[in-house]
Parts: sequence; structure tokens; C-alpha cells
Amino acid sequence: MIKISASLLAADYGRIGEEVIRMADAGADYLHYDVMDGRFVPNITFGYGILEAIKEFGLPIDAHLMIVEPEKHIESFAAAGADTITIHAEACAHLHKTIQQIHECGCKAGVALNPATNPDVLKYVIGDLDLVLVMTVNPGFGGQKLIVPAQKKIADVRRMLDDVGSKAYLEVDGGMNIESIPETVALGADLLVVGSALYGAEDAAAFIDFVHAQ
Ligand code: DX5
Ligand code: ZN
Repeated sequence: MIKISASLLAADYGRIGEEVIRMADAGADYLHYDVMDGRFVPNITFGYGILEAIKEFGLPIDAHLMIVEPEKHIESFAAAGADTITIHAEACAHLHKTIQQIHECGCKAGVALNPATNPDVLKYVIGDLDLVLVMTVNPGFGGQKLIVPAQKKIADVRRMLDDVGSKAYLEVDGGMNIESIPETVALGADLLVVGSALYGAEDAAAFIDFVHAQ
């Protein structure tokens, strides 16, 4: 079944707890937690405290760290309750070492790729990964238009994972909506991050059913 990770970035921050409960009740598989530092990306979002507070609502937390030097913060996000921690290949000087660090903290490890990044950067670590995140927008903001060449990269990553017999998730983030989801799944994605299209949907449960049925 194709899974869905509801991106907290698109939630109403004045009612953040209710928004997480709404997504859990609607059937989301994960809560996607976008951490931005104002350096790797222009925007700044949430830290450890909010993660700890929303963890009690039960959805597993898929933390997407869009931050430089992620190794400095992994222990704290793990302690706050992250289930999966995904770091950016472009923001991490020692990718292999940092993946091991995530595992040592008891979390699943993911690596994210910006739209222009060649997936070959994963070649020597792919067997250690629980998740690969293909960004189909430039990270930093929700509600952007999908970048088609980045979407095509999904097929390359699917091939790389299958070649080594990996069961890692192939997650896609950015511009996922009713129109773009079928093709994204056909290219090989099996976990979709959805922000604006899901929170803005008239019926979030129906939207999630649509993803599960792909
Ligand atoms: C963007 C974030 C995404 C964002 C996606 O940098 O990583 O998770 O929430 O938003 P939509 O689904 O609106 O493109
Ligand atoms: Zn994200």
C-alpha cells in the first residue's frame, strides 16, 4: 500500500494539536515534521519542543531536517521522539557517519536529495538507508509547483534501491496533489509527503484513501 506522511508545515499553527489529531483520525501513516534553520533553507520552522509535544498524539514522526550540520541535532530530535530522521546529502559533510549516528540513536535513517542533486551520492550508503527522500520542489516552503525533471529522478532511485534489494521507503516531497500523485507512484514512490493539498482538502480522509488506493 502507498503510504502518506502529512506535512505539519501546512497545518494551522494556532491549533497545532488538533491538526495532528485530525490527520491521525483521517488515516495518515506518518506525521512529516519539517525542520528548517534559516541557513540551509531560507525559512525557519519547528525545533525539538514542538516535536515532543505532538508526539503524544500517536502518529510516528518522520523528521525532515533541512539544516546544516545535522549531526549536532540528531540526538535531541531522537530524544524528542522522532521515529525516522532524514538529513540532506547537500547539508552533511560526513554522510556515512551521520547515518550511523541516527541508527545509534535508535531511529530509522533517511537521506534527502534536492531537485538538482545526482542520486549517485547515495551509491555507497544505500544499503544502510531506511528511506530515500526525493525532493520535487526546492526545500523551504509549502505550496510550490512540482519540478518535473526532479520527479523523473524517482525512477533512477527506484532502480538503485531494487538493484541492492533494499526495502527502504522511496519518499517524495513537494507538489504532491491529486494530479501529480498517480505519475509519482508509477515512477516508483511508495511514501508521499503531502502538505497544502491534504490540509486544504475538503475531506482529508478521502484524500488519504485516494493515496492508499494508488
Ligand atoms: C518543503 C517541505 C515539504 C512541504 C511540502 O520544503 O519539505 O514537506 O510541506 O508542501 P506541499 O505538499 O504543499 O508541496
Ligand atoms: Zn519535507
